[in-house]
Amino acid sequence: MAPMAGITDKPMRKLVHSFGGGNIVSEMVAINALERKNPKTTRIADVRDEPYPVIVQLVGYDDAMFADSAKLAADLGAYSIDINMGCPVKKIVNNNSGAYLSKDIIQAAKIISSVVKATPLKVSVKFRLGWDHEHINAVEFAKMCQDSGASYITVHGRTRSDFYSGVADWNTIAEVKASVKIPVVGNGDIVDGPSASAMIEQTNVDAVMVGRATLGAPWLISQIDNYLKQQTISSSVSIAQIKSTLLTHIKELRDYYGDRTALALSRKYVCWYCKGLRDAKRFREQYVKTSDFNTAFGVIDDYFNFVGEDDK
Ligand SMILES: Cc1cc2nc3c(=O)[nH]c(=O)nc-3n(C[C@H](O)[C@H](O)[C@H](O)COP(=O)(O)O)c2cc1C
Repeated sequence: MAPMAGITDKPMRKLVHSFGGGNIVSEMVAINALERKNPKTTRIADVRDEPYPVIVQLVGYDDAMFADSAKLAADLGAYSIDINMGCPVKKIVNNNSGAYLSKDIIQAAKIISSVVKATPLKVSVKFRLGWDHEHINAVEFAKMCQDSGASYITVHGRTRSDFYSGVADWNTIAEVKASVKIPVVGNGDIVDGPSASAMIEQTNVDAVMVGRATLGAPWLISQIDNYLKQQTISSSVSIAQIKSTLLTHIKELRDYYGDRTALALSRKYVCWYCKGLRDAKRFREQYVKTSDFNTAFGVIDDYFNFVGEDDK
């Protein structure tokens, strides 16, 4: 499962792992905040109580600070370290971090080598095809990652200027795969088992990473895993399972964030879980108006009593 800020938090990781299969990357962790011991950031990076491997993703610019942060992340239970060199968001690239580093390959190399030296953990790098379509440099960047000691790389088949629009370019991912010896993870527009399989066939990548399609579908990673291993399509998730998963997700959010934040966060998940179901718009409109969990659970019960198994 792809790292997604605001999504791949502990509640989501727990839920995804309850279905089985796959690995999950944490939300990105800002190295300057981690080094300052910012309590919120430290909590995001702390995966010590999770009984499955969590790849912790770091974002920043300064190579020495990256090395210190990798050590801190290791102490906080990271299974391996992923370096974010693909985030397109202004706030990040304006700090010379994320996708900005596709334009500063010398600093990118320094960062990777210093993290590799700082920790015995595996170090991976996630990046895009380049800054924009006039500056596609994924092959050169991939070779630099390999030469700097990365254990594997993940390539998202878009440029920084694409953000998330357009179709991911799997051909360039194939070129990257053919140009390096380290394993390559392909990312961009995988939505189910057959599209994961198609990506592997077209690009020869060693693994795939899935982001947006998992929103409101934490079972998807396990379904894709099953498909790739057995070529069988899992039976579709029932309405009853959607409801029980949503309720479990809300419970995990409450346990982790407390009621106030959990209620606010649950609104986006409700929208995702009921996507494509009958009368979902009315359900969403009623849910976002609720101001306490008693009312919220009433709205959920009413909706799922109304929507039938044939309404998907
Ligand atoms: C809400 C959201 C948050 C994201 N946060 C991160 C992040 O923290 N780090 C990162 O490397 N990529 C992040 N991404 C990008 C995804 O990891 C992934 O590369 C992208 O969504 C493409 O994959 P997909 O087509 O399967 O969604 C984020 C994407 C979304 C939609």
